[in-house]
Amino acid sequence: MEDSVFIGGGGENYAVKQGLTLKYANRHGLVAGATGTGKSVTLQILAEGFSKAGVPVFLSDVKGDLSGIAAAGSKTFKLHQAFSDRAAKIGFDDYGYEAFPVTFWDLLGEQGHPVRTTVAEMGPLLLARLLELSEAQEGILNIAFRLADEQGLPLLDLKDLQALLVWVGENRKDLALRYGAISVASVGAIQRRLLILENQGGAKLFGEPALELTDIMMTDADGRGRINILAADKLMGSPRLYATFLLWLLSELFEELPEVGDPDKPKLVFFFDEAHLLFEDAPKALVDKVEQVARLIRSKGVGVYFISQNPSDIPEDILGQLGNRIQHALRAFTARDRKQLRLAAETYRDNPRFSTEDAIREVGVGEAVTSMLMKKGVPGIVERTLIRPPSSKLGPIDPSDRKQVINTSPVAGKYETLKDRRSAYEILKQRAEKAASDAEALEAQEEDMPAHEREFNAGRRYSGTRVTRSTSRTTRKQDSFGEAMGKMFMKELSGTTGRKLVRGILGSLFKGR
Ligand SMILES: Nc1ncnc2c1ncn2[C@@H]1O[C@H](COP(=O)(O)OP(=O)(O)OP(=O)(O)O)[C@@H](O)[C@H]1O
Ligand SMILES: [Mg+2]
Repeated sequence: MEDSVFIGGGGENYAVKQGLTLKYANRHGLVAGATGTGKSVTLQILAEGFSKAGVPVFLSDVKGDLSGIAAAGSKTFKLHQAFSDRAAKIGFDDYGYEAFPVTFWDLLGEQGHPVRTTVAEMGPLLLARLLELSEAQEGILNIAFRLADEQGLPLLDLKDLQALLVWVGENRKDLALRYGAISVASVGAIQRRLLILENQGGAKLFGEPALELTDIMMTDADGRGRINILAADKLMGSPRLYATFLLWLLSELFEELPEVGDPDKPKLVFFFDEAHLLFEDAPKALVDKVEQVARLIRSKGVGVYFISQNPSDIPEDILGQLGNRIQHALRAFTARDRKQLRLAAETYRDNPRFSTEDAIREVGVGEAVTSMLMKKGVPGIVERTLIRPPSSKLGPIDPSDRKQVINTSPVAGKYETLKDRRSAYEILKQRAEKAASDAEALEAQEEDMPAHEREFNAGRRYSGTRVTRSTSRTTRKQDSFGEAMGKMFMKELSGTTGRKLVRGILGSLFKGR
């Protein structure tokens, strides 16, 4: 089992060791099964196995029951005997309890290190999806991003985007000449969506310091891969936020990591739990992009494993790319259940010893129908595998132990304090204040002037570029502002936002349209 992750025992009496070959672990995978059939424990033992093999792991903890990976299992635990019996049955001779190196993350910053990105990095496409915008509203969001780029307005947090949208609304008449009509109602609708997102805790996701990918790709002093666990129990209250964030992270990995072809083992394994959320009423364009990312991210050495109750939750094009499969039991109550079960069974290479369809129906808890990629990436014959018991603690870690893990992690202190550097919000505010004081000064000056001079000046202005009173002010602001900003912005660019100006391939996939 040197070159693979041990998953359990198959064959006669479950005595034949089954493993997931590390070389093909970047060809993605699927963990499926009805509630309570053993998906979470399978996730746990896969994470343990990858970690031992030196592969960092990222996973989301949807129910809060995976945090135990950071602690060792125990002989006093009620399932100790059951675990030991299971280990003996599958020939897991060196089974023992141990803790794994874990980094806890939390979008809300409560149960782990805060994990953030910037509005600019999220990009208009994912943001529109997150905000559930209509096509017209998405169009406006695209214009806003274009303007931010052109005018050097860094979009870091939600405040920046809100300020920019106010500005777009105020200047819609000028902007219409270049971008077509911008409706106030649509701008207002986006603002309301942003408020909803803010109320869901979304404001916490945006800002700096933004997550550095190297921080989720670490190994510990013993060469074990660190297991990154994203607290997602509260996050699941906003499924869109959850799914969009994970999709952003995938796209970011794709964009930033170098090509490595087919490495001996993956650089990172990414588990996408509750994967159906990604595809629920997703427009075809988005599904296509996920499919594309899944296909291309392989050569960056990232394996993506989707976890879902039913494989039918996952679009066929994507399902077809998931080479390593662990299928726990599916229910067969209704005609529809049975049809889905048959379809699921059809995607496997039959084993002469049993019917795949029957096996998917019959496997017990912690047992699964498995098929792993073999030599040359060919799918292996299906097996009934008794999944190995976990070495780390089953269930959640104690809150005090969690705190300890967080305080001693290699990134402790790095993300805890929000840095609010000068960005669109501050720049636009300053600009508005300057415009107001300029106007005041001008008015005061004009009042001091003799009447004939005032008339002369007014005449001069009317013969210039001035069109209407309301636009003259903003046009003037914009000109001086644009130049100054261009210079200032280049100096200000540091860290993640600047990097984003030079956009990679995924720029065309996700960030643009
Ligand atoms: N590989 C295993 N070894 C030992 N026990 C297991 C194994 N898999 C599952 N079990 C037992 O079955 C229980 C349920 O498994 P698990 O929590 O993984 O189910 P699940 O499919 O994730 O359920 P849900 O859909 O509700 O999240 C576990 O708490 C454990 O007691
Ligand atoms: Mg579970």
